[in-house]
This record gives sequence, C-alpha cells and structure tokens, in this order.
Amino acid sequence: MNLIYLYAVLLTCACLASFSLAVQLDSNSQRSFTIDYDNDTFLKDGQPFQYISGSIHYFRLLPADWDDRLAKMRAAGLNAVQIYVPWNFHVPRPGQHRFTGSADLDLFLALAQKHDLLVIVRAGPYICAEWDFGGLPAWLLQRNASMVMRSSDPQFLAAVDEWMAVLLPIIARRLYSSGGNVIMVQLENEYGSTGQCDLAYIRHLYQLGRRYLGNQTVLFSTDGQSAGFLKCVAKERLFYATVDFGPEGTKSLNDTFAPLRAVQPKGPLVNSEYYAGWLDNWSGQHAQVDAKAVSDGLARMLAYGVSVNIYMFFGGTNFGYWNGANSPPLAPQPTSYDYDAPLAENGDTRYKYQLIRQVIINATGRQPPPVPPNSTVSSLGTVKLRRLASLLGNLDSLIVNRVDSKLPVAMETLGQYQGFALYGAQIPKGYDATEYSLRLAKARDFVYAFASSESQPSLGQFLGSISYSDSEAVLNFTASNSSGVRNLWLLVENCGHVNYGGDLQGNVKGILGSVTLNGAPLYGWRSYALDFDRLAARPLRSRRLAASAEAHKGQDAAQAAQASLYMGEFTLDKNNLTDTYANLSTFCKGQLWINGFNLGRYWPCAGPQVTLYVPGAVLREGSNSIAVLELLQAPCLNDSSCRVDFLAMPDIGLSRPAGESVGRLEYDRESLQVLATAEELPQLDDGRM
Ligand SMILES: *[C@@H]1O[C@H](CO)[C@@H](O)[C@H](O)[C@H]1NC(C)=O
Ligand SMILES: *[C@@H]1O[C@H](CO)[C@@H](O)[C@H](O)[C@H]1NC(C)=O
Ligand SMILES: *[C@@H]1O[C@H](CO)[C@@H](O)[C@H](O)[C@H]1NC(C)=O
Ligand SMILES: *[C@@H]1O[C@H](CO)[C@@H](O)[C@H](O)[C@H]1NC(C)=O
Ligand SMILES: *[C@@H]1O[C@H](CO)[C@@H](O)[C@H](O)[C@H]1NC(C)=O
Ligand SMILES: *[C@@H]1O[C@H](CO)[C@@H](O)[C@H](O)[C@H]1NC(C)=O
Ligand SMILES: *[C@@H]1O[C@H](CO)[C@@H](O)[C@H](O)[C@H]1NC(C)=O
Ligand SMILES: *[C@@H]1O[C@H](CO)[C@@H](O)[C@H](O)[C@H]1NC(C)=O
Ligand SMILES: *[C@@H]1O[C@H](CO)[C@@H](O)[C@H](O)[C@H]1NC(C)=O
Ligand SMILES: *[C@@H]1O[C@H](CO)[C@@H](O)[C@H](O)[C@H]1NC(C)=O
Ligand SMILES: *[C@@H]1O[C@H](CO)[C@@H](O)[C@H](O)[C@H]1NC(C)=O
Ligand SMILES: *[C@@H]1O[C@H](CO)[C@@H](O)[C@H](O)[C@H]1NC(C)=O
Repeated sequence: MNLIYLYAVLLTCACLASFSLAVQLDSNSQRSFTIDYDNDTFLKDGQPFQYISGSIHYFRLLPADWDDRLAKMRAAGLNAVQIYVPWNFHVPRPGQHRFTGSADLDLFLALAQKHDLLVIVRAGPYICAEWDFGGLPAWLLQRNASMVMRSSDPQFLAAVDEWMAVLLPIIARRLYSSGGNVIMVQLENEYGSTGQCDLAYIRHLYQLGRRYLGNQTVLFSTDGQSAGFLKCVAKERLFYATVDFGPEGTKSLNDTFAPLRAVQPKGPLVNSEYYAGWLDNWSGQHAQVDAKAVSDGLARMLAYGVSVNIYMFFGGTNFGYWNGANSPPLAPQPTSYDYDAPLAENGDTRYKYQLIRQVIINATGRQPPPVPPNSTVSSLGTVKLRRLASLLGNLDSLIVNRVDSKLPVAMETLGQYQGFALYGAQIPKGYDATEYSLRLAKARDFVYAFASSESQPSLGQFLGSISYSDSEAVLNFTASNSSGVRNLWLLVENCGHVNYGGDLQGNVKGILGSVTLNGAPLYGWRSYALDFDRLAARPLRSRRLAASAEAHKGQDAAQAAQASLYMGEFTLDKNNLTDTYANLSTFCKGQLWINGFNLGRYWPCAGPQVTLYVPGAVLREGSNSIAVLELLQAPCLNDSSCRVDFLAMPDIGLSRPAGESVGRLEYDRESLQVLATAEELPQLDDGRM
C-alpha cells in the first residue's frame, strides 16, 4: 500500500463517501499486489507469489452455472482466474449499457472471491477471444466504417474513453488493494500481432488505466513470445510485459523467454495464455491438444517459477451471434467454444483436468477442495416440429428497419450489428431472359437468394446460396418468364465480425457493392434489418403467422427449401431440467432457440460441430418452446423426419476429418421417447398479422 497515495485520498476528499472509503482502505492496509523486479517475482501482501490461473469467460455461460465452474476451477488447485471484458456485450447499442445476467461483471467478480480466486482482468478495448469483432462494438462501423480500430484515431479514442469511464471504476472498486480480488489489469491484447505500432494509442490506454486504477495497480500487456511481437508494446516498457505460448515439449524455458528478457530483463515470468486446447472453425476439424503434453508443460513452467494462465480452462459457448472469425481467409468460429479445455462445454471434468490438478498439487504441496461431481446430462427425447413461418411470408413481423436507396446499404448502416439483413430489388420490366447469372461485387458473409413473382410476392423460390468460401460471388439460375419472376431477394447472414487479422479494419457486413443480373446492374434496393429473435421468442400459442396456412396443407420441396422457421413445443417435469444437447444433424444450416433463448448457429453441413449445447437453465418446468430457423434444407418434407432429438452426448466433431459433411442423415432413433408430436401442437391462426 502506497501511504502517500492513501493520504492524498484522505486529504483531498472530505465527504461522507470518502470517510467510508478511508475506513475500508485502512482495514485493508495489509493488502498489496506488486512486482519485485529484483527478485523476479510478484509480491502479494509483501510475500513472493506465483499465480496459477485459468481462463473463463463469464459471457460464454449462463450465470446459473458460474458457481459450478468456479468451484471446479478452485478444486483444480488454481488460485486465480483470468477473464476478458467484451465491450460489445456490455454496450450492444450506442448508449445502452448492460451489466445484468451474463453481463453482471461485478457479481462474477464477487463470486470468484467467494471461491477464494484472485482475478486477472483483460479489459480491452480489443480482446480478440474468438469473439465477434474481438469485443469491439459494430456500431463503431456505423459511425464511420473507415474509423481506424485499435489506434489513436480520435473517433476511436473518444469511444474508448467513454467506455473505460464506465468499466474501469467497476474494476477499481474490486482491486485487491481495496479489499477485492482483482490483482492485475491488461489493456489491449496481442497488439504486437497487428503489424502496426501506434504508441500514442498504447500510451493513451496506459493513462486511462492509471487514471481509474491508481498508480499502484499492475497493468500488463500480452503478446506472442517471439521477438517480432515484442518490439512494440513490450519494448515500450509502460505495461508489464507477459507472453503467451502452448506446450513446447522439452524446449528450454530459458530459450522461450529469451526474447522477453531481451526487452524486459527483470521481473516475474508470465505465460498469459498457456494453450490447453485450441479453437475450431466451420469446415475445419475439431482441435485437440494432448492432455499429457499440457500437464507436462505446466509442471515444467511451475517448477521454473512461471506464473501461468491456462487458456481456456473452461471455454463455454458462443450463444446467439457472438462468435468471431479469423481472416484472411474468412474462417468463422463455431458455436461451441469447448476448446478441448480441462472443463468441457457443460463443465465436465476431463482427464486433462485430473492431470492438471495432480501437477498443481505436486508443485505446490497444497491440497485443493474436493472436485465437485459432473452435472447431470439427459437425453430428453424427440420434439417434432412443423413449419410455421416462411421468411418472405412474414416480413411484416421481421423487419425492424428499412432503407431505400439506389445501391444496397451495409448492415451496420441499418443498425443491424449481428444476424441477418434482407435486400430486395425488382427485376426491370421487359427483362428478356430465362437463364440468369447473378453477380455480387462484394458481399459478407453468406447469401441466400430467392425470387418471387408479382402475383405471389410472399411465396419465394429458393435460387441458391453464395458462401464466403466460394471463389466468386456468382449464382446462375433458371426462371421461366411465364412464372412472372419479378422480385429478387438476397438474405445476407453476418457470420461473425473478424476478430483477428488485418481484415478487422472496415469489417462491415451485407451487400457492399454492385449487383448485376446478366451483366446489367440492378438499382433501386430496399435494405431491411431483420429480427428473428423477436419472432422466435414469442410464445407459440399466441403466434399469428402468415405461413400457418401453408403448414396445414403439407409442404412441397420448394417450400421446405425456403428459409423458414420451424417450431415445436414440449413439456418437462421439474426433474428433467438438466443440461442436454440438441442434435441438428438432419438440418443443414441455421439458428436454434429454446424458450426464446438463442442457443447459436448450427451448421452440420459444414461441421465439425453437429449438436448444440442446451444448458438446463434455459429449460422450464411445464411447457417449453423450440424454434429452428433453417436456411438451406429442412428435413421436413414429412412429419416423421421434421424433428430435433435431445441427446446426453455432444458431437462437436471429435473423430471427423476436416470438411466431412454430416448433414441430412436419415433418422433411425425410434427408441427415443417422443415428447410432443406435430398433431399435439396447438392450432394456429391462419390470418396475417
Ligand atoms: C500518480 O502518478 C502521476 C504521474 O506519475 C502523478 O502525477 C500523480 O500525482 C500520482 N498520483 C498519486 C496519488 O500518487
Ligand atoms: C529480494 O531482493 C532484495 C534486494 O535485492 C534482497 O535484499 C532480498 O533478500 C531478496 N528477497 C528474497 C526473498 O530473495
Ligand atoms: C472517417 O474516418 C476516417 C479515418 O479516421 C477519416 O479520415 C474520415 O474523415 C472520417 N469520416 C468522417 C465523415 O468523419
Ligand atoms: C538463458 O537465457 C539468457 C538470455 O535470456 C542467456 O543469456 C543465458 O545464457 C541462458 N542461460 C542458460 C542456462 O541457457
Ligand atoms: C480452420 O481449421 C483447420 C483445422 O481443422 C485449419 O487447418 C485451418 O487453418 C483453419 N482455417 C483458418 C483460416 O483458420
Ligand atoms: C466427468 O465427465 C468426463 C467427460 O465427460 C468424464 O471423462 C469423467 O469420467 C466424468 N467424471 C466422473 C467422476 O464421472
Ligand atoms: C505427482 O507426484 C507423484 C509422487 O511423486 C507422482 O507419482 C505423480 O506421477 C505426480 N503426478 C503428476 C501428474 O505429475
Ligand atoms: C424425467 O425425470 C424422471 C425422474 O428423474 C425420470 O424418471 C425420467 O426418465 C426423466 N425423463 C426424461 C425424458 O429424461
Ligand atoms: C419475357 O417476357 C417479356 C415481357 O415481359 C417478353 O418481351 C419476352 O419475350 C419474354 N421472354 C421469353 C424468353 O419468353
Ligand atoms: C454462370 O454463367 C456464366 C454465364 O453464363 C458462366 O460464364 C459461368 O461460368 C457460370 N458460373 C457458374 C458458377 O456456374
Ligand atoms: C420423409 O422425408 C425423408 C427426407 O426428409 C425421406 O427420406 C423419407 O423417405 C420420408 N418418409 C416418408 C414416409 O415419406
Ligand atoms: C444425430 O442424429 C443422427 C441422425 O439420426 C444420428 O446418425 C447421429 O448418431 C446422432 N448423433 C448422436 C451424437 O447421437
């Protein structure tokens, strides 16, 4: 504790609030967390201290599960946890602050303290984290798509200042020296990987940290461990520099840390991201890192005196639309952020967990609390679905914003920061063709094309899709003149803003350039922001949707292929509110909701992930609703195949080779208990809204 600082606080403040602050500071006067450079160690309350930490992201699980995961982390022998703070999760729209539910940072910090865990906070503004836009709010792109992110661009700094003025005081109240558990705070992340080195920006962040967190708090940076990454922030020596690297076999740690020592000769050695697993991307193979290699590497680092954070110790889930993407080439991450971590996506303690726990016991000689049991996972059975609403038939209920202009406008311009936008244009009258070639100059990220006629504008014909991985954005289709094709519709899916790599700059989504049909540009566009979440969240019984008439009549292949919402209902008793996994293997690509909670994107046609994790906390006693937005091909040509099974086992692609499609398999799971059938679903109103 810096006594001069304490007196300064006492002298300058003479109000009641400062009195209580002074009392608190006084009673915590023994609490300090500092760096002893001479002895290459941290000092906690004046004593040498080595932290053994694990990463957990409070926003990647439900608050109902925070306690279980933290208890298991403490029981592994960890004495700290490391968290990121995602700016965009806390400020989803300009001026709209969220600190409740999964965003209740203060509660999470308090809970960690209850479990006797210190906290290392990585406060951003940029966090990477395989999180949408690396934690930056996409509304920055709406203000100015050319704004230079992660730089001293005054527009960016102004937004950062506003956010840090909200965030850092929350952290300041929970600093270790103030009686809380936060020992260190990181600003920015792996800035050395950007290839830019804007020191005015780095100094600005440092000053913000000092202004709100005081002169004593350990402020640190993290970069890759090789010299190239350390020549910007680490070399500047404002922040205490740490590095990140995974298991390296028997490579000498002295060699690994040599580049860091070259720029920061003294102080405790820290590995801020020791990779216990790795990230996945759609169409890739599920990454796995050998448990023995991880625990051996950990044992060596602990023996060498390194303070370690295991990344991830618990990975969790990218619910909703929160996954990020690496680029180039664009590689969006799947919904599961299991990360092959010691704790599985549902909190199960893996073999890797047991090994790590034993290594920590051996290294510290301290016996942690007993390991809590795995939580229950149930195979809840099968829920039958039926097609309830087509995209084009329900635009009235979906549209939240519309802009008419000569050329399409970006999603962010529409105020649509995640999810979907729809673009509509008319094919000019007298257009003389049956073979069409549609070409998009630039579109992000995944486009579904439909045509509709003048007489039946709401009945779309699915023309095909264009993926971000296609070499050119061209779609050829045939439409007979006699069917009167007049409207072209392009549904565009934002698959996650880039979170890592050069393409982070200007990463706007939607139709971004000209659209041509047989070489001639199409003008006169209607750009719509769509809100599927609102529709999916409505209770089934009160739903009045236009497509219900179609649903009663049965479905032909064209309708089944059109982007549609499929819904079902099932009943659970209070003993069945356990975790489970939804098997989407017979669907192809879309989004899943239960009781209005957006569980994330599914895409078994790409893999590696096939099932989606359903936390027990989203289930309810009594009636539950399920909604599936299928965009490419629903298995719903007949009632028996239009269903979702809830399983006791995940399938995130453990054994499948990269790129192996698993979509549209046949069902043969008749043994599962049927929770509800389409016939039992409530009758729907046929009328339009
Ligand atoms: C903190 O450091 C700044 C800059 O070095 C200095 O101006 C300020 O007086 C210090 N504050 C305290 C309370 O020591
Ligand atoms: C730490 O360093 C100081 C000064 O270099 C020395 O006097 C002290 O003995 C060291 N403490 C330990 C525990 O090594
Ligand atoms: C947008 O940002 C760029 C880069 O900072 C700047 O040059 C430009 O003037 C800004 N445009 C507007 C309209 O503010
Ligand atoms: C350890 O690394 C330093 C450079 O950081 C080097 O000077 C020293 O010789 C190395 N020591 C051993 C034992 O390898
Ligand atoms: C996606 O994952 C695969 C591993 O399955 C990897 O080979 C590939 O490099 C990843 N792609 C990108 C762009 O990160
Ligand atoms: C907990 O779950 C993991 C992974 O599912 C399994 O390997 C482990 O054996 C389970 N532990 C216990 C005590 O059942
Ligand atoms: C822990 O130490 C014991 C006793 O020395 C040893 O048998 C065991 O292999 C060690 N475990 C690990 C995971 O290092
Ligand atoms: C629901 O819970 C009861 C009591 O635990 C159990 O017998 C039953 O099998 C469960 N049903 C399902 C579908 O898991
Ligand atoms: C398509 O319809 C237009 C009138 O809208 C007509 O001029 C043209 O000949 C028709 N083309 C074909 C191939 O039928
Ligand atoms: C689409 O049609 C154009 C013109 O007919 C042709 O050149 C092109 O190869 C086709 N592209 C694809 C992807 O089929
Ligand atoms: C139901 O549809 C599936 C494809 O979705 C098909 O394989 C199956 O034969 C159909 N069953 C009946 C009875 O039509
Ligand atoms: C998911 O359903 C498919 C199709 O019925 C089935 O082949 C697959 O085994 C199921 N997945 C799991 C993990 O049971």
